[in-house]
Amino acid sequence: MQGVMTMSKIKKIAISTGGGDAPGLNAVIRAIVLSALNRGWECVGIRDGYNGLLEPEAFPQGGLIPLTRESVRGITHLGGTILGTTNRGNPMHYPVQGEDGQWHEVDRCAELVNMIHAHDIDALVAIGGDGSLAIAHHLHRQGLRVVGVPKTIDNDLDGTVITFGFDTAVSFATECMDRLHATAEAHRRVMVVEVMGRYAGWIALNSGASSTADVILIPEIPYDINVVAEKVIERERNGRSFTMVMVAEGAKPVGGELTVQEHIVGAAERLGGVGQKVAAALETLTGKQTRVVVLGHLLRGGTPTTFDRLLSLRFGAAAVRALDEGQNGVMVALDPPTVRYVPLEQATSRMKVVPLNCDTILTARDLGICFGD
Ligand code: F6P
Repeated sequence: MQGVMTMSKIKKIAISTGGGDAPGLNAVIRAIVLSALNRGWECVGIRDGYNGLLEPEAFPQGGLIPLTRESVRGITHLGGTILGTTNRGNPMHYPVQGEDGQWHEVDRCAELVNMIHAHDIDALVAIGGDGSLAIAHHLHRQGLRVVGVPKTIDNDLDGTVITFGFDTAVSFATECMDRLHATAEAHRRVMVVEVMGRYAGWIALNSGASSTADVILIPEIPYDINVVAEKVIERERNGRSFTMVMVAEGAKPVGGELTVQEHIVGAAERLGGVGQKVAAALETLTGKQTRVVVLGHLLRGGTPTTFDRLLSLRFGAAAVRALDEGQNGVMVALDPPTVRYVPLEQATSRMKVVPLNCDTILTARDLGICFGD
């Protein structure tokens, strides 16, 4: 069903933002709304992913928000999302508590598509990462006209060179590393900085390389803590009595496991804590004072960079052009110098992890950065 088709004229579209927020969401919303209104289409936003429709009682002021020029005025530079978001309540695996108190999952997608049609909504622009776009793809297969917009600070979506939010996260992590570099050097400490990214190491790699980290640990390269400790000791021998270690939350030791903070019914596992493990081991192995900083959700908040603002505006406008051109079941994607459309199926079928032979890894290795392998 995906691709250009002869379709009925669009009069009304809905927008949803799902999964973790990312800087640039509001810029995408603004671009979609203005591009739609300029075509004479009506626009509504669904609150908190799809919960505005699936859990209407949770929204006394309405689960659908009419989106006008007024509602998207002055939001391009704002972090967060004016629609709200959630990484719970996936309609494909909706958690429901049975009478026995046990939780089980039901598929509410067909019901959701019916609700959307009942509101006279002709098409959906789904802004999200892998999880939200997999849902969008499923809704599309159930008969909904859908275009996706790739969002995630993790940059792990296939089919697009980059997702919006990533540049802001990397820029902030780099700035934090610069600040921490100064204090690590002053105290002659090992500083371990943990960043988000789930199962992909893009944020750690790009900000680690840009901020001249001495060690970068990413999920794609399982690490040996003894190799990292040796790097710290070697620096000490060379008169460099501090070490900057950048760790992706999904990094794991050779033959070891991911560090999971929490398993949640109906949602993805929460990662986090590997930085603490790495720091404790390094302190023991090297005898050096070690500190840990977890950047966490700081990477998701804040003002989008110029790059992310423009990319978000381009993605939002392209999503509306895609619908206008009769596209369906596709995601807008950056393929410099242009924005093109790729099938949602392709974008969601595999995760984009860091290729081991990519230029940034080769560059970092040439600069002497240790990956713990
Ligand atoms: O996918 C984006 C992301 O920020 C990941 O990097 C991180 O693991 C996850 O979301 C955290 O989500 P939350 O704390 O909102 O559940």
